[in-house]
Amino acid sequence: MSAAILLAAGIGARCARPGDKSPKQFLAIGKHPVWVWPFLALANHKDIDRIVVTTLPDMVDTIRDHIATLPCNKEVIVTTGGATRQASVRLSLQVLEKANPEFVLIHDAARPFLTEQIISDTLEGVRKYGACTIGVTASDTVKKVADGVIVETLDRNTLVLVQTPQAARYDWLLKAHEQALQDDLAVTDDAAILEQAGHKVVIVKGSAHNLKITQPEDLALAEAIASIVLERV
Ligand code: CTP
Ligand code: MG
Repeated sequence: MSAAILLAAGIGARCARPGDKSPKQFLAIGKHPVWVWPFLALANHKDIDRIVVTTLPDMVDTIRDHIATLPCNKEVIVTTGGATRQASVRLSLQVLEKANPEFVLIHDAARPFLTEQIISDTLEGVRKYGACTIGVTASDTVKKVADGVIVETLDRNTLVLVQTPQAARYDWLLKAHEQALQDDLAVTDDAAILEQAGHKVVIVKGSAHNLKITQPEDLALAEAIASIVLERV
């Protein structure tokens, strides 16, 4: 049994434009709000059995109502997140304790262009290795900088830009998150949580289209991609 967690509990501070009434994941891209795109990809995937959508307290009802209008015959739980992404993931994992899935896949709602292929590749990776993340190689040269001055040119061949989905055995990830809470350890993604807990996290090839909307200019790029991606129902 595989469950998916769709993270939509952030405030989108870096993307906020004057006049925006809601965080980036609720803005419209093409014919859907940003979060609905990956939701539909998860809802349509045959190997995802259950979906947790994690959001802000005042968005729970809106999201539930919207999901009721979408084609989805899976169990969907809408829950609230925490002050950090890490807390949102931990709270979402705890919601799944009773269901106790074998694998859990975590995806950022701010990455609209999740595909069936990416979900399948992630699930294949987690079944084989126990923990994996989607990632892409860096096409630009990456430099280490201090005070605006380059101190090192990094070897591009050893660098990967990590995206979501990230997936793991549910028992590993829950334990790693609970341990991180006890140890007061703060990280930016679930791969780092698993690395800290001593698990090997395998990289699965992602896609440049799987962008995360982070800055306002990413919204225009996402609109452009939405117009060329086959629109879902
Ligand atoms: N997220 C979450 N709970 C939080 C913080 C983030 O569920 N407390 C989610 C966001 O909704 C997003 C994903 O994690 O889908 C990736 O985070 P990021 O791009 O950093 O989004 P925000 O934290 O909302 O943006 P910012 O950091 O600019 O405020
Ligand atoms: Mg953030």
